[in-house]
Amino acid sequence: MELKNKVAIVTGASRGLGKAIAMGLAMAGARVVVAARSEVVKDKKLPGTISKTVEAIEAAGGVAMAVRCDVTDEGSVRTMVERTIAAFGRIDILVNNAGVAFYYPVVETPLLRWDLVLKVNLHGTFLCSKAVLPTMIDQKSGSIINISSLAADERDEGTVPTGVAYAVAKAAVDRFCYGLATEVGCHNIAVNGIKPKAPVDTEGMRYWEPDEKTTEGWVSPDKMVKCVLFLAAQDASGVTGTVSTDEELSKWHGL
Ligand SMILES: NC(=O)c1ccc[n+]([C@@H]2O[C@H](COP(=O)([O-])OP(=O)(O)OC[C@H]3O[C@@H](n4cnc5c(N)ncnc54)[C@H](OP(=O)(O)O)[C@@H]3O)[C@@H](O)[C@H]2O)c1
Repeated sequence: MELKNKVAIVTGASRGLGKAIAMGLAMAGARVVVAARSEVVKDKKLPGTISKTVEAIEAAGGVAMAVRCDVTDEGSVRTMVERTIAAFGRIDILVNNAGVAFYYPVVETPLLRWDLVLKVNLHGTFLCSKAVLPTMIDQKSGSIINISSLAADERDEGTVPTGVAYAVAKAAVDRFCYGLATEVGCHNIAVNGIKPKAPVDTEGMRYWEPDEKTTEGWVSPDKMVKCVLFLAAQDASGVTGTVSTDEELSKWHGL
């Protein structure tokens, strides 16, 4: 699938990896819906808004639309999809990138936090996928990309500081990729998961790890963006039902 003139929704695109993915898709010629909650900066340590991302894309010559969306709220997700279709007439690509972590041990995790981490990472992925599927099924093509994490696989406390709720949510997201790919392959829709091999330097990561020493080895989002562009171009006749790291996918496909 060529990305030029395709319509892509990127959740969690007000900052961080989502913003870089939105920019990458727009520079590849896609029309991009920038979806997240922030319309104004409420916390200086977490800069970025949906309109700032759109401004950056437009300044670089791309086409984008900001839509406020809380991925945990089914009504908000439905409105986001309706606005996408009203503006661009179709939906070809969904990147489920919105995510939150909670860096504390289970014994210090309030139920509300546990719920929130599950709701944003997992339920959000389910709700957004469910909402775009009728359109993709009608179109007989589409690509859904879920941003996962090595936290889903690793057990070493040194490499997985992001909390058990987050690891559980991302492991479930991986399983969701396999299940959904099996369900919608007959409609020519690809579903894949991708996770960074090395920590990606984003506003969200710096919020939790403000110490420069712990940011050693962090990388730019570039490799993840290349992988998302590759997966965005798939339908069910290509790569589907996979979950890999950006390093693996880059090696396998020469990205
Ligand atoms: N950075 C890494 O090293 C790394 C590693 C593995 C996996 N990941 C995954 O990559 C994705 C992006 O991470 P990041 O590091 O870029 O994080 P980030 O800088 O904290 O950005 C997270 C994004 O998610 C959005 N978001 C949070 N709750 C939301 C909600 N309820 N509805 C809609 N959007 C919501 C935020 O926007 P608003 O606050 O404006 O809503 C923000 O745009 C996440 O899924 C994360 O788990 C990142």
